[in-house]
Amino acid sequence: MREDVTILAIESSCDETAAAVVRNGREILSNVIFSQIDLHTVYGGVVPEIASRKHIEKINQVIEEALRKAGMQLRDMDAIAVTYGPGLVGALLVGVSAAKAISFATGIPLVGVHHIEGHISANFIENPDLEPPFVCLVVSGGHSHLVIVRDYGEYEVIGRTRDDAAGEAFDKVARAIGLGYPGGPKIDKLSKEGNPDAIHFPRAKLEDNAYDFSFSGLKSAVLNYLNGCQMKGEPVVEADVAASFQKAVIDVLVEHSMHAVKEFGYDKFAIAGGVASNSSLARAFEERCRKENIKFYRPSPVYCTDNAAMIGTAAYYEYQKGVRSGMDLNAVPYLKLGER
Ligand code: KG4
Ligand code: ZN
Repeated sequence: MREDVTILAIESSCDETAAAVVRNGREILSNVIFSQIDLHTVYGGVVPEIASRKHIEKINQVIEEALRKAGMQLRDMDAIAVTYGPGLVGALLVGVSAAKAISFATGIPLVGVHHIEGHISANFIENPDLEPPFVCLVVSGGHSHLVIVRDYGEYEVIGRTRDDAAGEAFDKVARAIGLGYPGGPKIDKLSKEGNPDAIHFPRAKLEDNAYDFSFSGLKSAVLNYLNGCQMKGEPVVEADVAASFQKAVIDVLVEHSMHAVKEFGYDKFAIAGGVASNSSLARAFEERCRKENIKFYRPSPVYCTDNAAMIGTAAYYEYQKGVRSGMDLNAVPYLKLGER
């Protein structure tokens, strides 16, 4: 019997076609990502139909490359892991179908993984000392969740966005100031040249749940500011708008997260998802956690945005608990965290 558990993981929930080989949960033997960003940039956002078609074109190639880079073959795998939700249904179906086909043909067990569980698990890759329980802020293009990670695979969502996700707000504001898609990295870069205190944008507080978020008011405030400048014939300093908007988002994320960590009595905090790769956001959390004596964790940028390594890591802990998916595994676009 082999002692190591080696997993081939597949991710295709949005606009990245990705495959990885992961050993014992935290050792990444390969991590191949084909990003479709260039294809969608001209449309100002992800076009689901184009995403699905490109996934079909690329998926086999990406899987073969992941195995080759790991120096392994399918017969060396103990499980085939795949993201089955949430995400774009057509995009998810490509990964799910590929994983099911491999599992069916080889008899290797299949493990369906929740995409957000993958994002959270990205923190385990480079932080060997990190173990649950801890609080995790997941901020991506589709989600803004404050989650208590009670144990591996055991989550309690204590806060979520009521409207736009944090990444969505970055993308929409970037479009409004003419930066194009994807907005997050562009606002991150431009902000470095701007004054974050130049314009005061609102920070939404929600009376009934201190851990929930709302970013649509902030987005509207930015749009109103831009319209106001245009009507008054005043020049817009894009870098100041970007930096001030970014600061407003970061302030809210930091305040709500720190409040949760303290209220629930934890001493470890992690961030995850595409927005977690934002350099100012990471710095703000680092400083605040140091002050509050909370141990802070974050994945490297490549493990923040969509990738399959994080899916392999999440799958390992599910696999160890005995979780196996059947050939009836389907794509679930609105899959909730903690559901199977
Ligand atoms: O996790 P992810 O790759 O995909 C989803 O699961 O949604 O996140 C993508 C989101 C996009 O909205 C993108 O603009 C944002 O993450 N993002 C960033 C940065 N890099 C990516 N937002 C802020 N700063 C960044 N550096
Ligand atoms: Zn994601």
